[in-house]
Parts: sequence; structure tokens; C-alpha cells
Amino acid sequence: MSATVAMTVPFVRAIADLREHVRVWRAAGERVALVPTMGALHAGHLSLVAEARRRAERAIVSIFVNPTQFGPAEDFANYPRSLDADLERLESVGADLCYAPSVETMYPQGFATTLHLEGPAKADLEDRFRPTHFSGVATVVAKLLNQAQADIAVFGEKDYQQLLVVRRLARDLDMKTQIIAAPTLREDDGLAMASRNVYLSLEERRAAPALYKALVDCARKIVAGEPIGDVMGKAREALATLGFSVDYLEARHGETLAHIARRQDGPVRLLVAARLGKTRLIDNLAV
Ligand code: PAJ
Repeated sequence: MSATVAMTVPFVRAIADLREHVRVWRAAGERVALVPTMGALHAGHLSLVAEARRRAERAIVSIFVNPTQFGPAEDFANYPRSLDADLERLESVGADLCYAPSVETMYPQGFATTLHLEGPAKADLEDRFRPTHFSGVATVVAKLLNQAQADIAVFGEKDYQQLLVVRRLARDLDMKTQIIAAPTLREDDGLAMASRNVYLSLEERRAAPALYKALVDCARKIVAGEPIGDVMGKAREALATLGFSVDYLEARHGETLAHIARRQDGPVRLLVAARLGKTRLIDNLAV
């Protein structure tokens, strides 16, 4: 009897090995895409890989739980990690390589550089509740883009402020990698897929889709002509009644994240972050 061995995608940990794969593909005239992740891969992540494969012959997925983007009281130590399952999932969607560097590779002894961000990173949204988060994200994303030298990199609209921060970063630092946005993948009941959804209790999981429903409801009312301020205020109260601790629920300009009072000053983007028990959920929607 022979044991069944699950197929997994090739994986490397060293920058030199990553670059060697990219060099060989480039030499063959192939376009290379990078999908940065922190692992615990779900169908939302895999949809980014599919988008990468549509746009490039080769797709690299990086898996690195980046310590510098977690605040001191956040869940770095407990963040879900599932490398073996992730490698199988990546093989099943046709990724070509997984790059999973160690913390020592990314932040060797003496590492002393971080990025100082303004613009979309200072929008008084995620940054209000996670003041060091985007500096950590930008530092690691700049490193990953430099390391891989990919033609394109795919990021999810799920983390909308992050997407705008990364776009700004790539432009400002003259990165040659083109940043591509991919839509948010949702569960059947509307809840945006997220690695942290595994933290939800059964009861919280049942309540969670109300967050997306609130966004859809706000968008409908804004399109119908109701004043944005009233719509958002009522939705904040309704979410609180349902048991959410709302960090923010706001309508912003979809490109700059500037405050926006009227639909015609748009594009309008609705952004929300709220806690259910110990789990913090974020979501957003275009109006
Ligand atoms: P992570 O949370 O693992 O997400 C990796 C990528 O998957 C991000 O671009 C995110 O927006 C996207 N994503 C997450 N959930 C999604 C969903 N339901 N539908 C579509 N895309 C989704 O974001 C990070 O990691 C990190 O901050 C990182 C960019 C890797 C830097 O460390």
C-alpha cells in the first residue's frame, strides 16, 4: 500500500533562491506576479492568485507574518499559521512558487530602517486604531517588492486603506512593480473572508454578516439621495444595537480617503471596522 502524498507548491526561504527563480522565468520571457500574504490562506487569498495567473505566466505567493505591523497588544503570537495546508492550497490553484522568509531574513540583526508615511496612511481610519500598522506594512511590502522584482503585485480591496498606501508607496519610491487591485471575496452570507474569522464564536459568526449588510444598506440610501451624514450616523447606532463595538463607519473619497459630504463629490467608498467580542472585522464597499 502506498501512502498518499499531498502535492505542494515549491517553496523557498532565501532571497537568493527567490531571485534565481525570477531570473530563470525572466530569461524565458515570462511575466512574473507577486501576491504578498501572511498565510492562513483562504479562498479570498486564492482569488488573488487566480488574478495573478491571468495577468502573468508565473505567480509567486509570499507568506510572512510580519511582526512590525502588529501593535504590542495585538495578535502576532496567536495569528493563525498553517504552512503545510497553505502549500497544498497554492498547488491546487496553480501558483508557481511560495516564498516564506524567516524573521531573521527580513529583519536581520541591526535592521534600522522604517518608512514614514503621510497621505492615505494618515486618514484617521485604521491608523487611528493601529498607529504603527501602516509603517510596518509599507516597510515589509517595500522589501518584498524589491526582493521579488515582479512585474505586477496583486492586493485585495478587502484592506482598502492598505491598498491605497501600497499604491502610493510604489509610486513614491519608483518601484517598477505595477500594483493591481482585486475585489473582496465573501462568504455566501456576505461576510468578507478573512484569516481572523476563525476567531469568531458560533454566535459571533452568525452576527458578523450584519457588517456587510450595513454597508450595502448605507450605499443604497446614499444612491437614493439621503444625506451621507445621517445615513452613516444611523448605521453606526444600528450596529451598536446588534452588539458591534464600532471603531469607525465612514464615507470617504475612494481615491484620497478625504472626508466626503455629497455623493457628487465622489467616488464614495464606505469603510468600516468593528469588534465582535475579541475579533476585529474590517470591510468596505464602493457606492
Ligand atoms: P493578509 O491579511 O494575509 O492578506 C493578503 C492579501 O489578501 C491582501 O492583499 C488582502 O487585501 C487580500 N485579502 C484578504 N482577504 C481577502 C478577501 N476576502 N478577498 C480578496 N482579497 C483578500 O494584508 C496582508 O496580509 C499584509 O498586510 C501584507 C500585505 C501581506 C503585508 O504583510
